[in-house]
Amino acid sequence: MAFFRKNKKNEAPVNVPEHIAIIMDGNGRWAKKRGLPRTAGHRAGAEAFRRIANYSRSIGLKYLTVYAFSTENWKRSEEEVSGIMKLLGRYLEEALADMEKNHVRFCFFGDLSRLSPELQTLCRDAQERSRCYDEVQVNFCLNYGGRDELVRAARTFAAQVAEGKCGPEDLTEEAFSNYLYSAGVPDPELIIRPSGEMRTSNFLLWQSAYSEYVFMDVLWPDFGPEQLDAAIEEYNRRNRRFGGT
Ligand code: IPE
Ligand code: IPE
Ligand code: MG
Repeated sequence: MAFFRKNKKNEAPVNVPEHIAIIMDGNGRWAKKRGLPRTAGHRAGAEAFRRIANYSRSIGLKYLTVYAFSTENWKRSEEEVSGIMKLLGRYLEEALADMEKNHVRFCFFGDLSRLSPELQTLCRDAQERSRCYDEVQVNFCLNYGGRDELVRAARTFAAQVAEGKCGPEDLTEEAFSNYLYSAGVPDPELIIRPSGEMRTSNFLLWQSAYSEYVFMDVLWPDFGPEQLDAAIEEYNRRNRRFGGT
């Protein structure tokens, strides 16, 4: 169900989608512009995430899915990857405190088994402890890859067929969705990519079949409520046909 609110100028009501996904890109360039190490960009990016998670809650968004670390991001230097992982650990601890105050439900999409045992525990804890909260649900994509997600889904289904629990004919689009990390979550109506890049970089390959994309020329650490409003306004100008007329 869509949520209606007045925009800043109190003009026409703005239709806030139920589910927005964001590729949080541009941290490195943000840091470079300032002559700072890339890790400083990731720290600023984590702050931007906190701002947007809180704002999403205030505008009545139901699901916010954020791309934080991809299956391809392991290709980066050991120094950068370990910096990001350390930051994630610290941030998740703070997010846990915030979450209990704000009733945000946390979910993780991705293969967590490659993370440190401490980080895995933190993620599991956050997911477990926030299960009952009913404000915005944040799906945090960590070691997430769209292709990896599809292969895992296919493998799980194939294993069930091999065990005789179901047959190939049982696989419908709906049934397949339930093998994904996003099982039970509606597809995002809107996917935002800041940083000026115009590609999906392996994000939500299945779920984005009919999403509206908004690419923005802002680096993620500079992204705030104003930019989210602008993306929602752009989304509202789109004519979604879903193959119809
Ligand atoms: C996004 O920012 C964060 C991650 C992918 C982990 P980048 O680090 O990709 O920033 P740019 O694209 O180099 O500016
Ligand atoms: C996409 O950004 C992944 C995340 C934001 C987590 P990248 O910076 O990794 O994407 P490419 O390399 O520009 O495609
Ligand atoms: Mg990038």
